[in-house]
Amino acid sequence: MAGATRRPVLVTGGAGYIGSHTVVELLQDGRPVVVLDNLCNASAESLRRVERITGLPVPFVQGDVRDAALLDDLLARHDIGAVLHFAGLKAVGESVARPLEYYDNNVTGSQVLLQALARADVRRFVFSSSATVYGDPESVPIREGARTGPTNPYGRSKWFVEMMLADLAEADGRWAIGNLRYFNPVGAHPSGLIGEDPSDVPNNLMPFVAQVAVGRRAQLSVFGSDWPTPDGTGVRDYIHVVDLARGHLAALRRVESTPGMFTVNLGTGTGYSVLDMVRAFERASGRAVPHVFAPRRAGDIARCYADPSHAEQLLGWRAQLGVDAMCADAWRWNCRNPDGYRGAEEAGSV
Ligand code: NAD
Ligand code: WQD
Repeated sequence: MAGATRRPVLVTGGAGYIGSHTVVELLQDGRPVVVLDNLCNASAESLRRVERITGLPVPFVQGDVRDAALLDDLLARHDIGAVLHFAGLKAVGESVARPLEYYDNNVTGSQVLLQALARADVRRFVFSSSATVYGDPESVPIREGARTGPTNPYGRSKWFVEMMLADLAEADGRWAIGNLRYFNPVGAHPSGLIGEDPSDVPNNLMPFVAQVAVGRRAQLSVFGSDWPTPDGTGVRDYIHVVDLARGHLAALRRVESTPGMFTVNLGTGTGYSVLDMVRAFERASGRAVPHVFAPRRAGDIARCYADPSHAEQLLGWRAQLGVDAMCADAWRWNCRNPDGYRGAEEAGSV
């Protein structure tokens, strides 16, 4: 078994935000990796930074998870032992405008990948799902057994893959599948070398807050001040991306030892409001984050936070890092890389 755990881990979407942080943790745990990414929402610079952080090479294949021939070739060349499947599209608003792209990339992409893995006899698989599958939760904190029912095409694409995985695990007992429902990943690696790099105006709260603090945008619009929450703004379960990355290591250990499928929430269990997060970022950065109240955003919900106890019981994992570390690390990344990876690509380095 010890030998088996040293087989390379295929990380699809490994050049992206969560994938790149997970590759750092894998390499630092002594696990070789192969990254597959089509770079539709990432820069290969992230992987050069991962190499700087770890001092280790990151084998990279530029390609698409929907390309069956490329997958067969990759799996024949590398002795892949398990797969972490991050590759996909993730912008909720875009998914409403272009649903077929989301179903093609996220659902068909996962199906083509799973078929190639079955052909290659690789049946250890960890999937990036999302708390978005719970839709508007009936109650909080949310347990894994709660009703699911996503409210947009992005969420449904994740939900369909979850169901495909459950059917697969049911049909063939050789599969070992970890289904990870992330809450709100934020923050960056403490080195300041890798972080979240939105290609356009950020959709999510924390990258927007960071860009306001760094002076790239004038002010934050707070979407709604009349939610049924303590201060009237939306409450979420923000989780440090390094904690999330470590959750993947714990999930990987489980799929390496135990067949069948499990589903866990990866969150901290604590909800923070938009205004809590603005204040935390102001503390961490020493900068003001000017903000105005704006109408509620279509499709938003009041509160969403995890009951993370199942992940602790099953995987021995729990989040360690609090909002101050999330904000301090996001601030360091934004200060050192005000134009994300683009600045470094143009200059040749940071
Ligand atoms: P990201 O966009 O930074 O990373 C996704 C990566 O996948 C990118 O590098 C992109 O280039 C690549 N990719 C996309 N389609 C591909 C394809 N067809 N073939 C190969 N590569 C492809 O996003 P992220 O925030 O790192 O998210 C990673 C995963 O986690 C996604 O599946 C996302 O849906 C899921 N997730 C993200 C969040 C979040 O808030 N960031 C929350 C819950 C779940
Ligand atoms: C958080 C809070 C907003 C921006 C989304 C996806 C979800 C998951 C994570 C992938 C809310 C408020 C935001 C702004 C604001 N992704 N806000 N001003 O909506 O919880 O989740 O990302 O799986 O699927 O839906 O995250 O960061 O967009 O919003 O006031 O400019 O911040 O209303 O209360 P959300 P978010």
